[in-house]
Amino acid sequence: MSLAIDLGGKRALVAGVGDDRGFGFAIAKSLVAAGATVSVATWPPLLKLFDLLLTREPIALEAVHPFDADYDRLEDVPAKVREHRRYKDAGDFSIAGLATAVGSVDIVVHSLANGPEVTKPLLSTSRAGYLAAVGTSAYSHVALVQALGPTMRPGGSFVTLSYLAAQRVVAGYGGGMAAAKAALESDVRMLAFEAGRKWGHRVNAISAGPYKSRAAEAIGPIDQLIVSAAERSPLAEPIAAEEVATTAAWLASPLATGITGSVIYVDKGYAAMGLVPG
Ligand SMILES: NC(=O)c1ccc[n+]([C@@H]2O[C@H](COP(=O)([O-])OP(=O)(O)OC[C@H]3O[C@@H](n4cnc5c(N)ncnc54)[C@H](O)[C@@H]3O)[C@@H](O)[C@H]2O)c1
Repeated sequence: MSLAIDLGGKRALVAGVGDDRGFGFAIAKSLVAAGATVSVATWPPLLKLFDLLLTREPIALEAVHPFDADYDRLEDVPAKVREHRRYKDAGDFSIAGLATAVGSVDIVVHSLANGPEVTKPLLSTSRAGYLAAVGTSAYSHVALVQALGPTMRPGGSFVTLSYLAAQRVVAGYGGGMAAAKAALESDVRMLAFEAGRKWGHRVNAISAGPYKSRAAEAIGPIDQLIVSAAERSPLAEPIAAEEVATTAAWLASPLATGITGSVIYVDKGYAAMGLVPG
C-alpha cells in the first residue's frame, strides 16, 4: 500500500475561491496536485477578476461556477441583486444552482466567510449584522451538505475552515463572526453524525492560524495578529496556506477515512498554549 495522497478518480468542489491569495486557491491547487478533478465556486462580483487571474496563473480547473452562498434558491434572490450588473449574466448562482451545475462530487471544501460588521465589537453588533455573519459563514456550510450530500458517492468528504475564535476570545473578531465559527464547529459534529449515518460521508473542519488573505485584511491588523501568534506558538513561525491545503487534501483522502466530526488545528500549535514564558 502506498501512503501518498492519491485523489485520482475523485471530483472535488472548492467553494469560496476568488483570488490566488486565500486558503481556497491553495486547497484547489493541492487537490489538483493529488490527482482530483477540481471545480471552484466564486462569488459573482469576483468572477471577472478571477478569470483574469487564471490567465496569468493557470491551474487545471474543471470549471469556475458563479456562487453566492447567501441564497439557497434563485427565487430567494432579491430582484435588486439579480439585476445587478455583476450578477445578471451569472445564471443560477444559488446553492441549488451550484449543486445542479456541479453534479456528483466526492470532495467538498467550504472556504468562505463574511461578516458585514466584523470590525465592530459584539457589544455594538446589530441583529442584522450578527445574523448575516452566521448565515453566510455557517449556515452556508449546512446548506452545501444538504444540497451536495445526496448525490455524492458514499465515503464523500466535506471540509470547512474555522478559526480559534470559535473556542476562545480573539479580540477584534467581532460582528458575530466568533459565534458563526462556533456554530460552524458545532454543525461539523452534528453533520458528521447525520451525513455519516445517512450517506456514509465525513464532515470535518480545519481551524487555521492567522493568515494574510483578502478576507483577513478586511478584519483589521492581520500582520500584527500573525506576528503575535507566531511568537506564542510552539513552532514560532506563521502558517503557510500550503499547510492548510495539504491537510485538506489529506482529510479528503483514503488516508483519513476514520476521521469525522473533528476540528483539526493547523496553527503551529498555538491553540495548545496556555502561558508563554518570557
Ligand atoms: N485568513 C485567516 O487568518 C483565517 C484563519 C482561520 C480561518 N479562516 C477561514 O478560511 C476561510 C477562507 O478565508 P480566507 O482567509 O482564505 O480568505 P479569502 O478572502 O480567500 O476567502 C473568503 C472567500 O469567501 C468568499 N465569500 C464571501 N461571502 C460569500 C458569499 N456570500 N458567497 C460566496 N462566496 C463568498 C469571498 O469571495 C472569498 O473568496 C474562511 O472561512 C475564513 O474564515 C481564515
